[in-house]
Amino acid sequence: MQKVDVLVIGAGAAGLMCALNAGYRGRSVTVVDMGKKPGRKIIISGGGRCNFTNQNASPENFLCHNPHFVKSALSRYTQYDFIEMVERHGIEYHHKTLGQLFCDDSAHDIVDMLKTECDWAGVTIKMQSEVLKVEALDGGGYQVTTSGDDYQCESLVIASGGLTMPKLGASPIGYKIAEQFGLKVLPTCAALVPFTLHEQDKTRFDGLSGISVDCEVSSESGQMFRENILFTHRGLSGPAILQISSYWQAGQWVSINLLPEMSLQETLRAIREKHPQRSLKNALIQLLPKRLIEKLDAAGEIPQKNLNQLTHQEYQDIHNHFHQWQIKPNGTEGYRTAEVTLGGVDSDDLSSKTLEAKKAPGLYFIGEVTEVTGWLGGYNFQWAWASGWAAGQVV
Ligand code: FDA
Repeated sequence: MQKVDVLVIGAGAAGLMCALNAGYRGRSVTVVDMGKKPGRKIIISGGGRCNFTNQNASPENFLCHNPHFVKSALSRYTQYDFIEMVERHGIEYHHKTLGQLFCDDSAHDIVDMLKTECDWAGVTIKMQSEVLKVEALDGGGYQVTTSGDDYQCESLVIASGGLTMPKLGASPIGYKIAEQFGLKVLPTCAALVPFTLHEQDKTRFDGLSGISVDCEVSSESGQMFRENILFTHRGLSGPAILQISSYWQAGQWVSINLLPEMSLQETLRAIREKHPQRSLKNALIQLLPKRLIEKLDAAGEIPQKNLNQLTHQEYQDIHNHFHQWQIKPNGTEGYRTAEVTLGGVDSDDLSSKTLEAKKAPGLYFIGEVTEVTGWLGGYNFQWAWASGWAAGQVV
């Protein structure tokens, strides 16, 4: 039986950040993880370059049923604090788009940085240790049974992540521990995930795989994102689709503005001035990918007329069709390809300042296991860093 001040379950972004901060405060800290190497999700993130934070991160970029919950941690450990650590370690990085910061070289740089900091802070990291059982000790503290050693600790931090990418060791252990100690777990589902399509739409879009279009995509709840959508052989993906998937519920429509830069009606009328005999189809090919227009044409979505033959109503209808293109997804690709898990440990049951469970002193939940979900673009790591840091100040 090993006795430590702090035991952290999960050597991912949140767990390592918490561990190093607690270690620097002089606490004896051990991190246990069932994987072979720490930070496996960091390594595959951002296409191997890790989109480690976002310059614009603010509470509005996070989903949580209590939108105030994220404010404390995010304001006390900001994106600039993390950037400062990255710069201190000499890691080269760049701004890609929309405030997203990526490593120039490799996501391994971020994992190496966290491992180095943990080393300096005296943290022990035990890999290939699967947590099997957690019990509260009489008089305070916790006992944790793993497939390796067993531990007793004063503070127990759950940083076991969500359910995405089961191949990388995702497990529901964090939710089970939460329920064991009387915390509520909000229903979970895959988020930041591609949509799959109903059979008729699959046929309708067959052959469009690889086409990417800059769009405005809106959910029925009114959330809107302006980024690219990507047709794939399974359905729809691309950043705008991943973003809206977090706001989508089964059975709902998604509205896609295929031409956010313009008024289609005005543009077509301007083309008509110069080329009255041009077919509507050819006019649309000037504005959108040819293969897409040909598919929509084959599906009967484009009137077979020249621009000078269209009625006022037809201009209006075409305008509405392309600015509010409606798709009802069949579902999502699920946890296999999702970037994050929506839902999780209810923020009502946690202190927003320390992430400690209100009903179980000494028990903390940080990172993705909580119900907090960030937008695509480095926000999820920022929540992992900020929540890990906040718990690391008090455990
Ligand atoms: P994380 O999942 O990282 O770590 C949890 C750890 O707990 C794992 O190491 C696991 O092995 C361990 N564990 C689980 N059960 C256990 C048990 N029973 N016993 C012992 N250990 C156990 N975000 C972002 O901001 N920018 C990006 O570029 C990306 N890119 C990206 C790409 C892909 C493909 C995915 C899947 C995800 C992203 N994300 C992202 C999301 C980001 O990776 C995610 O939000 C954080 O890694 C969450 O960090 P946590 O530390 O909370 O959990």
